[in-house]
Amino acid sequence: MRNKILKFPEGFLWGASTSSYQVEGGISNNDWAVSERVPKAGLACDTYNRYPEDFAIAKYLHHNAHRLSLEWARIEPEKGHFDEDALYHYHSMLSFLKDNGFKTFVTLHHFTNPVWVANQGGWANSKTTKDFCEYVSKAVQSLGQLVDFWITVNEPKMYAGMAYAQGIWPPFQKGFLKPKKVYDSLLTAHNQAYDIIHAYDPEAQVGFSQNIAWSEAKHKGLDRLAIQFADWLSYSALDKTRHDFIGLNHYMYYRVHLAFSWRHYLNISRGEKLTERGWAIHPDALYYVLMKLKKYRKPIYITENGIADRTDRYRTSYIHDYLRAVHRAIQDGADVRGYLHWSLLDNFEWEDGYKWKFGLVEVDFKTQKRTIRESAFAYSHICQDNAIEITSN
Ligand code: BGC
Repeated sequence: MRNKILKFPEGFLWGASTSSYQVEGGISNNDWAVSERVPKAGLACDTYNRYPEDFAIAKYLHHNAHRLSLEWARIEPEKGHFDEDALYHYHSMLSFLKDNGFKTFVTLHHFTNPVWVANQGGWANSKTTKDFCEYVSKAVQSLGQLVDFWITVNEPKMYAGMAYAQGIWPPFQKGFLKPKKVYDSLLTAHNQAYDIIHAYDPEAQVGFSQNIAWSEAKHKGLDRLAIQFADWLSYSALDKTRHDFIGLNHYMYYRVHLAFSWRHYLNISRGEKLTERGWAIHPDALYYVLMKLKKYRKPIYITENGIADRTDRYRTSYIHDYLRAVHRAIQDGADVRGYLHWSLLDNFEWEDGYKWKFGLVEVDFKTQKRTIRESAFAYSHICQDNAIEITSN
């Protein structure tokens, strides 16, 4: 047995991802904050105020890239009224990152909407696309010099499904045709935002983050058809959009078995371990998705991948094994240029509130104390060495 070092390409970006409503705290005017049907984020990690501490931790952990999102409701609390203080605040946050040598990934829409957007019918109203573009123009003019990678929309397919098909997120609709309409509107918004950002800076790097799972059919026939449909939803979005890179969020492996309805599928397992959330740990899934993305001939950044693991018992090996899959994909021709772990901090996990702990850094939500987990140190070595170490025969 000996140890082997697997090097990543020079200039590979290493870091972590967050989103505004999940970490910032103090957001009271988006559709989540005003809803009685979902938990509220409240103070969250108070990152809006504590960002110097949080970004210093990321730097100490040898991250050289960081992903955050802008809260539309802060920047445009009323239609057409832009809050210069909020823009100044984001300017300070991003300047802090740039001054400390980070590459910045900035998401413009990560699941939340200002209340006024929700009141006009959200993304089911085609006017929202135009409103989104006005917010994008303002954000790009104010912050563009500090942004290396723009992610216009986070997981449009997931958002449309959770908010307009399953009805779990605001506006809690359980439609049949609307989810596709919303998905398409988000992709249109992406394309328009792409043009706006490029008009400001022709060299800008613009993409969106798509959540793509790897699925295997238990039986031929219906199971396979279901997978083809789900894959079509994911990959066709890449065919009909303009992007300079592909943002991949990857968490899931499914072994699909359709019974009587969409609800009755099996997502596990041939002995895979499951995370606390019940998601199968299957690193090859990431390899196969990366192999499918190769054909787009665009740089790929993994903009999210991570594990709910309160005890931190599995996170180190999870990161290691998934990165090994990434390395293998690079060897086999996938142009992967960065990995952003979800997440820097334990944070607000949407309909489940604070139940799941995805952080490299533990947060005590009573005291706001940060404690760096062991896995964060293990990941830090990888970031510093630009390599993982494996034991081979
Ligand atoms: C979302 C994150 C979320 C993560 C883990 C992703 O799909 O973009 O906001 O926290 O999943 O649940």
